[in-house]
Amino acid sequence: MADFGGARKWAQKIIEENVPCGGKVIDATMGNGHDTKWLCELVGEEGKVYAFDVQEEAVKNTKARLEEAGLSERAVLYLKGHETMGLTVRSMVDAVVFNLGWLPGAEKTIRTNCNTTLSAVSQALSLIKKGGVVTICVYPGHQEGDRELEELTAFSASLDDKVYDAVIFGYANIKKKPPVLIAITKR
Ligand SMILES: C[S@@+](CC[C@H](N)C(=O)[O-])C[C@H]1O[C@@H](n2cnc3c(N)ncnc32)[C@H](O)[C@@H]1O
Repeated sequence: MADFGGARKWAQKIIEENVPCGGKVIDATMGNGHDTKWLCELVGEEGKVYAFDVQEEAVKNTKARLEEAGLSERAVLYLKGHETMGLTVRSMVDAVVFNLGWLPGAEKTIRTNCNTTLSAVSQALSLIKKGGVVTICVYPGHQEGDRELEELTAFSASLDDKVYDAVIFGYANIKKKPPVLIAITKR
């Protein structure tokens, strides 16, 4: 049987195919730093990763992970919401990566929120270069995740097709609502 994988793998593939060595990337949801570390490896010594999270624990865990891997120089970690990225990151980037939801192993009440997510995705589209990509892993199956999926789907559908291509990847038949990937590129 073929293994189709899931939203995070699909996002990784898109990012790896579109971010050059020496590129600049935003990790909009730092969490425990797994994605920040992977992105630091991807951009190489000359690249930069700007990572955001609202929780001190996330910044602490990510800082430790990067130090252990000898990658600290490649990242700037912000204890700030991703909805501030437009004011915080002063250069255009190759990609912005969102992995919505809560910090694994921590308080589930601190999680991404539909209004700030939409604001951040909109800012991300302004920050990516032509040919750049935004990937968003969305987790339906609970109230805020369902809302994020609904609103991000509508937002993606509303984008001008002369400027953006937006796609939605997800399983058609699995009842327990697996994660969905939304990916947007600027023409
Ligand atoms: C699923 S986790 C991210 C996992 C992470 N990418 C990793 O590789 O470990 C989602 C994260 O989003 C963070 N978050 C919630 N609201 C946020 C906001 N407004 N801006 C930035 N991060 C936020 C949470 O604190 C949580 O750490």
